[in-house]
Amino acid sequence: MNVFTALETRRSIRQYTSNNPIPQAHFDALINAVRVSPTSFNIQHWRIVRVLDSALRHQLQEAAWGQEQITGAQELLILCGDIDAWQKNPERYWRNLETDKQNYIVNMLKDFYSSKSQLQRDEAIRSCAIAAQSLMLAAKALGYDSNPMIGFDADDVGKIINLPNQHVVTMMITLGKANEAAGVRGGDIPLNELLVMNTFS
Ligand SMILES: Cc1cc2nc3c(=O)[nH]c(=O)nc-3n(C[C@H](O)[C@H](O)[C@H](O)COP(=O)(O)O)c2cc1C
Repeated sequence: MNVFTALETRRSIRQYTSNNPIPQAHFDALINAVRVSPTSFNIQHWRIVRVLDSALRHQLQEAAWGQEQITGAQELLILCGDIDAWQKNPERYWRNLETDKQNYIVNMLKDFYSSKSQLQRDEAIRSCAIAAQSLMLAAKALGYDSNPMIGFDADDVGKIINLPNQHVVTMMITLGKANEAAGVRGGDIPLNELLVMNTFS
């Protein structure tokens, strides 16, 4: 499937078939779609929690106001971002470079993020948001449907999954084979609102 077809046909699906587990090779391909997603300074903030445990799924469903896809989907992934990833041995993000180039970029990275807590958090969320779309498009290309979700109490979810300090839950993604047709698209904003030429007026 080409990327434009995946973009056009990806829709949020809330009801999944119960008998179509995602084979390991496909699951690995989805995780690889995250791995090759871009992140600022290659920091790779993603920490993805794969929830297979049924009791945990039910607890998470309660934290998400009962949304049925949390227990009904084949896979439930919780995309978390590590806010401190920028300072966790950042040399490893550039270990394939020659030492002088590695030092140059790592020093730049440290200057860029030091003492900027808002930016550090924004970056973790940005990385996860891009990864989320990669994952959902890859899923579509492999014949699966998905639903990105923020409709939950993030503090409750954090407690359920033992979210470490300085991590942020950015969204959940459910995955599986659709058991419903996607609804009509909600409605687009006008192009002249979406696309701003040169500057805001
Ligand atoms: C960050 C984010 C959070 C969302 N949270 C939920 C959610 O909690 N529950 C839900 O049913 N849909 C959720 N959605 C799905 C949106 O309602 C959906 O993407 C939007 O209406 C466009 O429809 P489409 O995905 O079918 O193209 C979320 C989407 C995004 C991007």
